[in-house]
Amino acid sequence: MTTYRLRINGVERAIDSSDPDQPLLYGLRSVGLTATKFGCGLGQCGACSVLVDRRPTRSCLTTIADTQGKSVVTLEGLGSMAAPHPVQAAFIKEQVPQCGYCTSGMIISAVALLAEKPKPTEDDIRASLEGNLCRCGTHVRVIRAVMAASGQGG
Ligand code: FES
Ligand code: FES
Repeated sequence: MTTYRLRINGVERAIDSSDPDQPLLYGLRSVGLTATKFGCGLGQCGACSVLVDRRPTRSCLTTIADTQGKSVVTLEGLGSMAAPHPVQAAFIKEQVPQCGYCTSGMIISAVALLAEKPKPTEDDIRASLEGNLCRCGTHVRVIRAVMAASGQGG
């Protein structure tokens, strides 16, 4: 068993694993951070997206070992029900989630986009979130919410 040390949502955490190839996603969920979802497990749907050192990252393809010593932000680290992150607030206001399975990954990707480009165009948002799949067809609302979160429209 190896203990991996990561900074998760601003807090130093230790995650024990006997498998050096264990995905970060499993490690996060094993310590109760269940907002990050397992979708495809193949890097193709974006449901497992988190920020690793501020970069959007598929946690199903990234190992805990590779994340040792790095900073990880999950949906839980962005805001709370009482004080949501502006992107979370916009998703609520625009009533984006249907089943909600893709929502965590969508929000993480949107936060990463706005950190790079505070005033994105709709095309920027489409390009940035094209790897985040939604089987419920919420994409139009997602674009509206990200535009609103960036202070454009909404
Ligand atoms: S679960 Fe990681 S990309 Fe689909
Ligand atoms: S809201 Fe259901 S998959 Fe996106």
